[in-house]
Amino acid sequence: MNFKVPRGTQDILPSESWKWQRAEAIIKNVCDVYRYKEIRTPIFEQTDLFQRLVGETTDVVQKEMYTFTDRGDRSMTLRPEGTAPVVRSYVEHKMFGYPDQPVKLFYTGPMFRYERQQAGRYRQFVQFGIEAIGSNDPAIDAEVIALAMDVYKKAGLTKLKLVINSLGDTECRRTHKEALIEHFKPHIDEFCSDCKDRLEKNPLRILDCKVDGDHPLIKSAPSLADYLNEESAAYFKEVTSYLEDMDIPYEIDANLVRGLDYYNHTAFEIMSTSEGFGAITTLCGGGRYNGLAEDIGGPSAPGIGFAMSIERLLLAMEAEEVSFEAEPDIDVYVVTLGDEAKRLGVKILGQLRASGIRADIDYTGRKMKAQMKSADRLKAKNVLVIGEEEVAKQVVVLRNMADRQQEEISTTELIQVVADRLTKEGR
Ligand code: HAM
Repeated sequence: MNFKVPRGTQDILPSESWKWQRAEAIIKNVCDVYRYKEIRTPIFEQTDLFQRLVGETTDVVQKEMYTFTDRGDRSMTLRPEGTAPVVRSYVEHKMFGYPDQPVKLFYTGPMFRYERQQAGRYRQFVQFGIEAIGSNDPAIDAEVIALAMDVYKKAGLTKLKLVINSLGDTECRRTHKEALIEHFKPHIDEFCSDCKDRLEKNPLRILDCKVDGDHPLIKSAPSLADYLNEESAAYFKEVTSYLEDMDIPYEIDANLVRGLDYYNHTAFEIMSTSEGFGAITTLCGGGRYNGLAEDIGGPSAPGIGFAMSIERLLLAMEAEEVSFEAEPDIDVYVVTLGDEAKRLGVKILGQLRASGIRADIDYTGRKMKAQMKSADRLKAKNVLVIGEEEVAKQVVVLRNMADRQQEEISTTELIQVVADRLTKEGR
């Protein structure tokens, strides 16, 4: 039998997982600074939730969901995104009653979409996302965008482009929709079958079509910008003014529509402009969703958020050739010669670890030279050498691997000496 990781998924091995942990540490730190609190929702939900909130006509719902019937005959879906579950939780737990609105939440976890695998596109990927629910202040739109930019900056990325648009409110969307139908209808035969379907239901999606993206009618389509009513235009202007105050450069793209149906007003994406980055350049996408809580029976609770995948964050770092600084794996490697020395070594190992000192020993009975090589590979800061003579004298030889200096230390003083040394080095 020849088992392989399922298509579109990947094993994150220890040689990579430390980078994920670093990225997640940056994320947690930035969220803390902005006062976003973590929420963890289940990885599956009722299928209906996504159908209703993400939208029946979206690619995500029509083609990409991992849907199954459970043993109780209910239709369940592995979450393709995090906003619908978070809004569900906000309504279910009556977070709209919390005294401090908006409620500011973040999440990191696996999402599932049955997509064609390519660089930067997976069937299981990890999204970090935030949602600020319960405020209609343009300043929070700017805060959400600033938070996303901060995460990328802290990861060392500089080749970034923020693209922003306003999708307006329900009224502008309706008049724009009518204009789009009028624009595409006479030529709809030239479009793919999905677009034909989209024409009456959701013509905005035609602008985002992966098949017909280059059709000239898409470029000449009526722009939503021309259909924004006064209120929506004023809202958008305020969001961009806040971005300017915060020195966050942006580009307005009137064709930015996003792939999910729940958006209104502010929509944005952050792209990598690094040449080394593959065909998919979007690192992060988000926007405002004012009607979502009401759509599932909650009160009016305007929200805004974004999501980014850790996969694409790390790919962008690779493309820009920036990396997290690797830390040595351990502080002390214990090298022993002979059975008695091994016993003493294991005892000392336990004491080191109990004091929070990262330590390890050989478990494969290798010769001393091979043990020293392991210590080098693991970039141990210190090596403890114990032979028969040391056992007899109840001492160990402590070697500093940076300057190769070594000294004999009694076993009773050892832990303190090592701890002091590490403190001096700033660990
Ligand atoms: P989305 O644009 O569908 O939005 O996805 C957001 C981000 O998730 C993308 O920019 C990308 O980084 C990542 N992503 C999406 N699909 C894949 C994939 N197949 N493989 C790797 N990464 C992927 C949402 O999901 C919204 N829930 C964002 C949001 C939050 N809007 C408001 N709040």
